[in-house]
Amino acid sequence: MKSFPKGFLWGGATSASQIEGGYAEGGKGLSIYDVRTAGSANEPRYYTYLDKDSKPGKFAELRELLPEGAKYALHAGEYYPNHTAIDFYHHYKEDIRMFAEMGFKVFRMSIDWSRIYPTGMEEEPNRQGLEFYWNIFRELKKYNIEPLVTIWHGETPLYIENELLGWANRKTIELFKKYARTLFEEYKGVVHYWLTFNEINNALMFLNLLPTESAANDAQRTFTLLHHRLLASAEIVQMGHAIDPENKIGCMICYGESYPATCNPKDVIADMELKQMQQFYCSDVQVRGAYPSYSNRIWEKYGVQLDVTAEDRAVLKAGTVDFYSFSYYCTSLVTAEDTEGKEKVKGNFTAGIRNPYLEYSKWGWAIDADGLRFSLNEIYDRYGIPVMVVENGLGAADTVETDDSIHDDYRIDYLRKHITALREAINDGVDLIGYTTWGCIDEVSMVTGEMKKRYGFIYVDRDNEGSGTLKRLKKDSFYWYKKVIASNGENL
Ligand code: BG6
Repeated sequence: MKSFPKGFLWGGATSASQIEGGYAEGGKGLSIYDVRTAGSANEPRYYTYLDKDSKPGKFAELRELLPEGAKYALHAGEYYPNHTAIDFYHHYKEDIRMFAEMGFKVFRMSIDWSRIYPTGMEEEPNRQGLEFYWNIFRELKKYNIEPLVTIWHGETPLYIENELLGWANRKTIELFKKYARTLFEEYKGVVHYWLTFNEINNALMFLNLLPTESAANDAQRTFTLLHHRLLASAEIVQMGHAIDPENKIGCMICYGESYPATCNPKDVIADMELKQMQQFYCSDVQVRGAYPSYSNRIWEKYGVQLDVTAEDRAVLKAGTVDFYSFSYYCTSLVTAEDTEGKEKVKGNFTAGIRNPYLEYSKWGWAIDADGLRFSLNEIYDRYGIPVMVVENGLGAADTVETDDSIHDDYRIDYLRKHITALREAINDGVDLIGYTTWGCIDEVSMVTGEMKKRYGFIYVDRDNEGSGTLKRLKKDSFYWYKKVIASNGENL
């Protein structure tokens, strides 16, 4: 059995809004994440806004529920978990030291657009924001940890959302290009690995989660904003290569792997159609440089008219990525039948019916290591370019013992099985170049806004209500992952 290749990029992954905090420090502007409240497994997170008469209101997820004339805004007295998050803004040295102790070769992080261009409209970047990331890169360099930078993990400045309607407006592409150019020029020679958009396809997954009528209403906006993001991605891939030919720039897909619920060909077709839309639509553009042949069927199904000009097609063609990266957490079952009365399960932006062969986490996400091997093969067979798994892990509640130890054997078990699957995939012939587990240090959950849903090797003392000392503690998985990296994946 083959082992992990020499120089394999072992590490961990985070995003700015989920760890940094310091939401009003260092000249940062507000981002869309700063107006998201805390939710739970059963209670949604809300976006807060002021309506046109300045009365406060809230809505959950469904953006078209934002009333006409309303603007996203902070509400006095509301708790916003991302404002402090785990305060990486002030703890980055300590945290990076701990990543180094585990032997990280790579650290995935995102840069917060609203820290660099507070409203997105400024002509000049915010120097304090750039310096904050310089400090992080210097610290990483000290330990020979390679940064893997996500340029957009959703941190759009609030001003752009309020005044331009975000990515639905084509003008946002130019503002994003200005921001990306700043990063490529500023950190030239320091950052070599970049991801353009985190989980660019999750807009489509989200559309599939909406009730049919809302999905029909939201489809035009969703496909349009996605077209703008795909164009922006292609433009900045070209830009990044022109500024530094050494840059390796990847796409990042939320790989919500799915299986047909039965061998009924109707289920197989339903699964195929879902995969084309959710898993392949975006990466076919980003890797192959053109909208795939099945796009017309999808646009027709949703009654979408997309304005794709000849110039747009040329941009997409010229801006293909160097490697493919993805998040992998769970799998789901797809059926052509009415799911009424069937037991439903969750996932990050996926929904399906329960797979009787799998176990589920406390948050209802399927645990399926074989699915990771399957996904890696599916991806590599399709695209044949280097692949990185940049998110994977188990969200679980941890217990701190009286001696500050944390026995997270469930997390070790999950990761062990998934790393074994990586090795199998390498044996299948997949050119896998790296693995960054999600939330290498506990962070604010994206979907629920909780702290209680933890992924880290490092525990952070902070709870769902924002109490706690922010003290860092090493979980059992910390020592385990250290051994895994030291043995290049042999000692599991
Ligand atoms: C991915 C996101 O979809 O899922 C991450 O890229 C997110 O930002 C992760 O944190 C896990 O979701 P959650 O809600 O458990 O944090």
